[in-house]
Amino acid sequence: MRVPVAIIGAGPAGMLLSHLLAADGIESIIVEARSEQYVLARIRAGILEHSSVELLSSVGLGARLASRGLRHRGVYLQSPEERQHIDFVDLVGRSVWVYGQTELQKDLVDARAEAGQQICYEATDVGMDNLTTDRPTVSFTDHRGCHRHIEADAIVGCDGSFGPSREAIPNTVKQIWERTYPYSWLGVLASVAPSTDELIYAWHPDGFAMHSMRSPEVSRLYLQVPNDTLVSQWSHQRIWDALAERLGHTTGGWELKAGPITEASVLPMRSYVQNPMRYGRLFLAGDAAHIVPPTGAKGLNLAIADVALLAPALVALVRNKDSGPAAEYSDTALRRVWRCTHFSWWMTNMLHISGDPFDAELQKSQLRWLSTSTAAAAGFAENYAGLPLTAMKTR
Ligand code: APR
Ligand code: PHB
Repeated sequence: MRVPVAIIGAGPAGMLLSHLLAADGIESIIVEARSEQYVLARIRAGILEHSSVELLSSVGLGARLASRGLRHRGVYLQSPEERQHIDFVDLVGRSVWVYGQTELQKDLVDARAEAGQQICYEATDVGMDNLTTDRPTVSFTDHRGCHRHIEADAIVGCDGSFGPSREAIPNTVKQIWERTYPYSWLGVLASVAPSTDELIYAWHPDGFAMHSMRSPEVSRLYLQVPNDTLVSQWSHQRIWDALAERLGHTTGGWELKAGPITEASVLPMRSYVQNPMRYGRLFLAGDAAHIVPPTGAKGLNLAIADVALLAPALVALVRNKDSGPAAEYSDTALRRVWRCTHFSWWMTNMLHISGDPFDAELQKSQLRWLSTSTAAAAGFAENYAGLPLTAMKTR
């Protein structure tokens, strides 16, 4: 079988890339290890940057986002002494949207199904070959046990942090940067109305806590926990008590509403960057090339930014045999990746308890700086609400 672009992975990066390519008349095939139901049920991130929303709306994926997404002007940052609101709209003229990745995945699956996109779910033994030729190949065993072989002009690895694509770039060519943080998040989904109008990121001597949401009826909350934590060590009562303690503040007048917890899991925190994001005719996008800790809400937005940059480069390569934009893809994408890697690392370090009292004083000083300096708050807002998709091209 021959197709212009073979995409490995049907997460948001792979699905959106196929959608963008189709909008330009370029056909693709998607090969995915899991089932459609599994991919649709995964609970992941929940914040879309201004430019992610603009892009999704401009390619016909904005309808449910407009009706169900919650537009937020900013976020709250707090310590037990103070809760401050950072207003992104006032500071940088941009806002963010609460819209679960699960919802976006549904929009993408529906849009691709309507367009007749070929998605090979439940593929096994996925491999790739001939990457440094102009006829790279993907092979796999399909859900019926038949061996399949695809010849393409380009292969895009959108297969997340455990997929085979990043491994296909030889060690002699690639450079990897990695940081594992000494804490994790215990994340819960609860059937209770959010106790806040916008997200709360809370510094607390017991550990970081966060209040996010999925809808007016569903709250998403997180607690900093040690790395070896088991969900079974945290009863629902213990979770609500810790959240109430860490999210509370002395200025008063606020109470956390508790409700039934429907899902709980422990999330490790990691930074990872791989350079280059391209090897011959193999391109990496999304988590396949980089991981950020969830504190800055950048993972999903970076995946969207990658494919927004890659789609026109692949169109130029496949249709016009112009390899210029494809050659620039990795360097250009990595500028945004490093900006977001720094911001996520910085925000993680500012808010999580390390156990060192010196760190704690520096963190409180940083939070005070953000609440007293418009310049500092604007820098935070610019990074959190996100740079325009074109911002990294000219620098
Ligand atoms: N073959 C085919 N598909 C694979 C393979 C494989 N060997 N290994 C993994 N996959 C699939 C996974 O099952 C998953 O559906 O690749 C897909 C990768 O999707 P995501 O992990 O969602 O990654 P991405 O599309 O880059 O989206 C990034 O996901 O982890 C979050 O915070 C991150 O929100 C960000 C987003
Ligand atoms: C979420 O809603 O799941 C969420 C929001 C912001 C973050 C991380 C996770 O920084």
